[in-house]
Amino acid sequence: MKIIIVENHNELSVLVAQKIATYINHNPNTLVCFAAGDTPLGMLRELVTMQSRKEVDLSSVWYAQLDEWIGLGIEDIGSCVRVMTDVFFGPANIPKERIHLFDGLDPDTNGQCRAMEKWIAAHGGIGLTLLGIGMNGHIGFNEPGTPDREGCFTVSLDDTTKSVSVKYFGAERSVSTGITIGWYELMQARTAILMVCGEAKAPIVKASLKGEVTVDVPASLFQNHSSLTVMLDKAAASLL
Ligand code: GLP
Repeated sequence: MKIIIVENHNELSVLVAQKIATYINHNPNTLVCFAAGDTPLGMLRELVTMQSRKEVDLSSVWYAQLDEWIGLGIEDIGSCVRVMTDVFFGPANIPKERIHLFDGLDPDTNGQCRAMEKWIAAHGGIGLTLLGIGMNGHIGFNEPGTPDREGCFTVSLDDTTKSVSVKYFGAERSVSTGITIGWYELMQARTAILMVCGEAKAPIVKASLKGEVTVDVPASLFQNHSSLTVMLDKAAASLL
């Protein structure tokens, strides 16, 4: 595990974007998987800017969506598909055939999971994943306690995740379930980047990177990833 600490969120966004662009330039046609959430937004915008400067071709790779809120679709502000479409897939002009999404509105969640697993397998597994950490240590929607099951699945959201979710939706929404690529599958990604910023995440960063490896802190499992770079701002790293 390599740890890189920079001054602030802006610097972090630029540095992570440069690392991902370099990866894409060296691995066209690989499959990448990016977390939504607030942390990567600046980084995603930076990637789009880099593409406009012809420094990277974001349509040269394939995309798998990491996770989604069950019950929400593209019309819903704060859904992962809405964020990724508005901030990244749309502005970067990524062709639809390059992207595989979870449909949070499809009641056949089992079918959604199998389709995502097929997509991942058809593209040779995940080449690079960019992950964030939830306030409770979750990765994607792998909540604390999620056992090591292969593939994708739905998870009951814990109370921390439900209360934090208000920041995405701008109001209370009754979300109780998430659909996600499972952590066992994410652990197989050939390269993983964990991007974290802000003082509020400092305690969970410490537990994830310096604490026991346990399913109770899903991010801690990534201590055993074969090629993980943790990229943090100073505030998130303040307890390390
Ligand atoms: C969200 C998502 C994750 C994300 C994490 C951190 O709920 N399920 O994919 O990485 O929590 O989000 P943020 O960056 O907004 O703190």
